[in-house]
Amino acid sequence: MSKPSLLVLYGSQTGTAQDAAQRIARQAQRRQLQVQVLPLDNYNVANLISESLVVFVCSTTGQGDPPDNMTAFWRFIFKKSLPVGSLSRLDCAVLGLGDSSYPKFNYVAKKLHKRLLQLGAGMLLPAGLADDQHDLGSDAVTDPWLTSFWERVFALYPSLADVIPLREDEPLPPTYTFHFLDDVEEKTDDRLRIPTEQTAPSQSHPFPARLVSNRRVTDMSHFQDVRHIEFDVTGSSIEFAAGDVVMMRPCNTPEDVQQFCQLLRLDPEAMFTLRATDNTAVQARLPQPCTVRHLVESYLDIAAVPRRSFFELLSTFATNEMEQQKLVEFSSAAGQDELHSYCNRPRRTALEVLADFPHTTAEMKVDYLLDLFPEIQPRSFSIASSLQAHPHRLQVLVAVVHYKTKMCKPRRGLCSTWLASLDPAQGEVYVPQWVKKGSLKFPKEKDTPVIMVGPGTGVAPFRAALQERMADGKNANVLFFGCRSESKDFYFRSEWEAMMKTGHLTLFTAFSRDQEEKVYVQDQVRENAELLWDLIANRRACFYIAGNAKQMPTSVCDALKEVFQQEGGVSSEDASQMLATMERTGQFQSETWS
Ligand code: 2AM
Repeated sequence: MSKPSLLVLYGSQTGTAQDAAQRIARQAQRRQLQVQVLPLDNYNVANLISESLVVFVCSTTGQGDPPDNMTAFWRFIFKKSLPVGSLSRLDCAVLGLGDSSYPKFNYVAKKLHKRLLQLGAGMLLPAGLADDQHDLGSDAVTDPWLTSFWERVFALYPSLADVIPLREDEPLPPTYTFHFLDDVEEKTDDRLRIPTEQTAPSQSHPFPARLVSNRRVTDMSHFQDVRHIEFDVTGSSIEFAAGDVVMMRPCNTPEDVQQFCQLLRLDPEAMFTLRATDNTAVQARLPQPCTVRHLVESYLDIAAVPRRSFFELLSTFATNEMEQQKLVEFSSAAGQDELHSYCNRPRRTALEVLADFPHTTAEMKVDYLLDLFPEIQPRSFSIASSLQAHPHRLQVLVAVVHYKTKMCKPRRGLCSTWLASLDPAQGEVYVPQWVKKGSLKFPKEKDTPVIMVGPGTGVAPFRAALQERMADGKNANVLFFGCRSESKDFYFRSEWEAMMKTGHLTLFTAFSRDQEEKVYVQDQVRENAELLWDLIANRRACFYIAGNAKQMPTSVCDALKEVFQQEGGVSSEDASQMLATMERTGQFQSETWS
């Protein structure tokens, strides 16, 4: 058989699957194979019947859902009307990226593998199921899986096995070339591009919402800075319901942008246009022309922990012997333990790595910037308000992420730190955003009660739900809220008290650190067994959990099962069964984040 061309299709939410897909493509290019890499939804899936060799690289998001850039493909591939055997010309393989701390581990990859088999595709090997929880990250599975994959490909196309691969220490051509402009007159405001059409804002057309307020809601003596942030979405067609989430992309800090430009000897005000070196490359989400400052501030993810592929490419620029040795080691399979200790454990940022390798950084070719650094990923936040209570407004509750590692400099969450730094008093601030359906759905029926357990910022979607339900005259609402101290982090206290006064809310609180013994929301669930049983068993109440404490959801579920046993007189197995049934029918829902 002659040489095939390889198609790598990916579904990626946070960039891990995209990185793995690009890695496979680079391996193919080094073997002088024609290769194309695309997000699944950028590919015309009807063409699959005429492809010969395809790798699918898909991650699974929290609730077992496919990533946003493969939802159209997902709907298509499961159409009942697709004839069995329609993909019989195709040889393919599926690599899954997942996290075994979630119940639906690599669900998308497993399901896709099965479906492709059903459609008659030749599966070259079992699906690879990489796990983020693995000590050495997803490469621990990806590396051996890729070795087997290439063995199968060589068995199928023996002529490929004879090709001498290109040297690992030579970089492949960059995806884009930079063309710097002399004419500064051409300067455009590349920050804000207000969409003119009235389509719903989306990832490709976010709406620049005006920041109205940014208020700290925890006492200044409290360890954590939590912000209640309000945006004005007037003029957008943004609509949302309780449970939906808003997506926002953070920017790098001005200090980081400055340091980056210094290390790379780049002029932040220089302007360039980009040209893809290969016409199959996906267009970068950048204005043309663009300033270096805009590129670094709002596109290149220099504050994330770099992946192995970053070191692989960086090592090809190194001429300083010491730096080269270290970078080659970090790129090799044998050096992954070392890389983990250097980078992942202390959560070292890409910018800090560049500062550690100053000679190599100064030699880096600007054309490779978009190959070296992934794009800053959007972050999602539960919407904390309803349009009925706050017309044309969208509010979020954001905990500013700040933690210590072995590094001297404390680590900060890029998005929450950036949001907290925005100040409407310093002039008009616009934050591009769009809204997505969330996983929590609230009952339409007026008489169905809701029981909501939301400690900390987990209360955000429930505030939206309460505002919406009050406007609709739905009065059976129970909220369990937990925080450390009544006087320091009891968000929205006056709002809850007003709702209680008018009979719209029953509130139970757990202030974990206001007394010797810890009290948590699950303790309050146990305490109120009789009420909860009555609402769930007799009035078919819906039960919700939201929040970010890792153990919290499990502990609340355990408490709920105890309530069923105690009040319903059922066995522990039957209690688990009841909860499973409630989950299946949507009577129990949870949304957790880390
Ligand atoms: P703690 O920090 O005192 O342990 C919001 O963060 C609230 O959730 C805090 O009161 C916090 O208590 C509490 N919390 C932490 N871990 C929890 C768990 N496993 N279950 C329930 N609540 C928890």
